[in-house]
Amino acid sequence: MCGIAGIVSLNDISEKLVGAIKSLEYRGYDSCGVAMIEGKGRKVAVRKNIGSVDEVRDRERLAEMRGTIGIAHTRWATHGGVTAANAHPHCSCDGAFAITHNGIISNYGHLREILKAKGHRFLSETDTEVIVHLIEEHYKTTRQVESAFVAALKELQGTFAVAMITRREPDRIYCARSESPLIIGIAADAHYIGSDFNAFIAHTKTALIMDDNEYAVVTHDSYALKRLSDGSPISRAVQEIQWDPEMSQKGGFPHYMLKEIYEQPQVVNHALDIDREAIRGLAEKILAADKIYFTGVGTTFYVVQLGQYYFSRYAGITPSIVSSDEFRFLASVDEKTLTLAASQSGETYDTLTALRFTRERGGATAAIVNVMGSSMARIVDHLILQGSGPEISVISTKAAISQMIILTRLALETGLMNGTLTQKQYDQHHRDLRKLPALIEKILNEKSGFIHTVARSQAHINHWLFLGRGHFYPIARESALKMKEVSYLHAEGMPSGFLKHGTIALIDERLNSVVFVPPKEEGDLYTLTLSSAEEIRARNGYVLAIAFADRVKKELPFTEAIVLPACALLTAPFLEMIAAQLFSYYTAVTLKRNVDRPRSLAKSVTVA
Ligand code: F6R
Repeated sequence: MCGIAGIVSLNDISEKLVGAIKSLEYRGYDSCGVAMIEGKGRKVAVRKNIGSVDEVRDRERLAEMRGTIGIAHTRWATHGGVTAANAHPHCSCDGAFAITHNGIISNYGHLREILKAKGHRFLSETDTEVIVHLIEEHYKTTRQVESAFVAALKELQGTFAVAMITRREPDRIYCARSESPLIIGIAADAHYIGSDFNAFIAHTKTALIMDDNEYAVVTHDSYALKRLSDGSPISRAVQEIQWDPEMSQKGGFPHYMLKEIYEQPQVVNHALDIDREAIRGLAEKILAADKIYFTGVGTTFYVVQLGQYYFSRYAGITPSIVSSDEFRFLASVDEKTLTLAASQSGETYDTLTALRFTRERGGATAAIVNVMGSSMARIVDHLILQGSGPEISVISTKAAISQMIILTRLALETGLMNGTLTQKQYDQHHRDLRKLPALIEKILNEKSGFIHTVARSQAHINHWLFLGRGHFYPIARESALKMKEVSYLHAEGMPSGFLKHGTIALIDERLNSVVFVPPKEEGDLYTLTLSSAEEIRARNGYVLAIAFADRVKKELPFTEAIVLPACALLTAPFLEMIAAQLFSYYTAVTLKRNVDRPRSLAKSVTVA
């Protein structure tokens, strides 16, 4: 949610700085801007506007800026509309300080009134602008940048990651974090600031990860990390980032979403290669807990819901699932509770809050996270790193399947430990999981064309139901979310059994249904799902089935069917999910949507 970048170097940085916010654009993309210290007069020059980084670069001629130190920002609006004035960076009245910010300052209204009374002029509606005026105000008394910066931050309530430059000290960037991510990239000739690794991975893989309530003073050849509370120094080891710069490129695909869908065979293999001990250790903690919560939000909520079904099926345990945005209003946590979260970014505010809520009440925490060094990765008692590589598309695909595989492994491990599964069953399930990557390849290679054709022919339909039963229900919900966010069509995910209790009244020629049909060997689950499809067809509703080979006969109640290769019961939902990802993708492409950056969304939602 908003991307912050900063560079301090001996060489000109303008191109690199624009490149940095371009790489962070998936975090927010309604407007962007750059501030650099330019010229001998040491002027803080700011250029910003609404639109994508490419648009603003051209319109504001960002490439013409010159300097060796600067900060930049790509925005996802929270306070104040999408206007050039609200775009970051924001400057103090005297133009000496410029700041970029990610997060939300909850007491900004109060601070703004105080600052206005002291004569400060505000040019934007943002909460961010109060920070820079506050620094300017403190500077009037301290005459010292560092203490003014710290004093101002201490007055803020809410969450922030900030980066600041000032012509008063034109060789350094000041930055700080409190509940919003910020990291420092370290190279021989320059230092970088970024909301995440993508800001500088093209230049260095060495990073220092900042923690909450810390600030740093960064020059081209030094950095000092300190506590916001008392300015005391912190020494922390730097980390080497595992991701390769090429992993963040599109690699010939028209969109990151498609590239990441195609990376799923590889990502599943990575999830299957995660050390068994890490999974077993978590299974032990689950078995030792009195109460177990699984949490996540958006896609990751559906991930943990699938986990819930698989725990019930393979380990005889039904953990409670709570969407992380509702967690603190519903969960009853004590010392015997374990909360397991799933999060691609490891920074999602709601999920972090659920984990903190658990910790505050003495419960144990665990997380499946993709981004190493992220906030969740650092606060939980038990971490499983997915190793799925950077997920750039705002639409989550490969990260979700990886988390589902890890949760499946966890369910199998727990089931083996508590005797729900025999060793033989456990081994068979693992063999089935190992066959999954090849089956995914097959779907990607052989079904994409057909799925594209169906998507093209139905893209005029504005309302969609996604129906699944049992462990296909979370898949239906996840698939409906994909459809909504990428195509902007209305889609609802629902248990197919629920349909007849009200929603069936909607069935007509303006509403299509996608039905996730389990393999026939699922018995009741299969026949009950077919009954729901019959009910829709009986009312002349369109049914697109996602089903398995040999099960789709002419007389079955579907209008059309995406037929997948036969597979084990354990892996069936994953294959159907991939078919549905392709369906949403091609619908969005047909409708000419902005696939990787759908309107109003942002990757990594770090605000409440
Ligand atoms: C959907 C999507 C979101 C995220 C959700 C949680 O495609 O990407 O629903 O899944 O915002 O994000 P993470 O996984 O980063 O915690």
